[in-house]
Amino acid sequence: MADPASREPCRSPSSDDGRTQPEPRRPLARQVAIVTGASSGIGTAIATALAAAGASVVVNHRPNPRSAAEADAVVEAIRRAGDTASPFPADVTNEAEMDAMVEDAVERYGTLDIMVANAGIEKPAPIAEMTLDAWRDVIDVNLTGAFLTARAAARRFLRQGLRPDVSRAAGKIIFTSSVHEFIPWAFQANYAASKGGVMLLMKSLAQELAPRRIRVNSVAPGAIRTQINAEAWQSDEAREALLELIPYGRIGAPDDIGRAVAWLASDDADYLVGTSLVADGGMSLYPSFRGAG
Ligand code: BGC
Repeated sequence: MADPASREPCRSPSSDDGRTQPEPRRPLARQVAIVTGASSGIGTAIATALAAAGASVVVNHRPNPRSAAEADAVVEAIRRAGDTASPFPADVTNEAEMDAMVEDAVERYGTLDIMVANAGIEKPAPIAEMTLDAWRDVIDVNLTGAFLTARAAARRFLRQGLRPDVSRAAGKIIFTSSVHEFIPWAFQANYAASKGGVMLLMKSLAQELAPRRIRVNSVAPGAIRTQINAEAWQSDEAREALLELIPYGRIGAPDDIGRAVAWLASDDADYLVGTSLVADGGMSLYPSFRGAG
């Protein structure tokens, strides 16, 4: 039976020369998504890809004027493309704000189907110099924030139940993890510890919630060209060293991850439960072993 969601009206069914073009699929039509940390980088690409796949998207951002302006620009770009989005300021480490964000999304769009716990930070330092604040900040945003974001969504999904005309799952939770959920990272012990934590948070929630038809997964990006790792790709020297780590020979683009998440959220990925989808150009294949060892 055809999925009714994929029969939603689509854009530009015909080209200038009158020939009919295949309609773009809108596998997330009539679904509602929240993406945390969506005012920049990978979060923006995820929000944009989910909206292009048909979802109405809440673009969460940090509650400060700069992030608000960035989020407004993201929302405007999504709307210009004919898709649906709105901004929402909230701090992922604040439980009341995470719950309020879900309530607001449901009031605005009527439901919630997809939660992407994406917000993340880095505060690198050699271990002897890593302050307790640098440790706590990273664990707070990357791990505790992921927990609060997922919990707010899980509460809603459990109450809401299945809507079979929209999706085979009663909700999808997707964490933006990292290859550093399993690759150790010197000078970034706080970050690697947070992502290792996200991995077992994700798997534990997946095991707990699968019987309720809630799918929980992660996307685990490698080196993606964003501000968070600008130092690793801006100079020629750094870029060359980074490319040594990537067998596929290119640094990732944010929409490599956006598209992966849009797929992971769709029914095409309905049998993926408790998985980290690694999108890293082969970074995790131990490339230094090519011809060595
Ligand atoms: C980090 C990036 C880094 C990449 C690969 C990501 O999780 O945020 O800074 O380039 O992992 O090491």
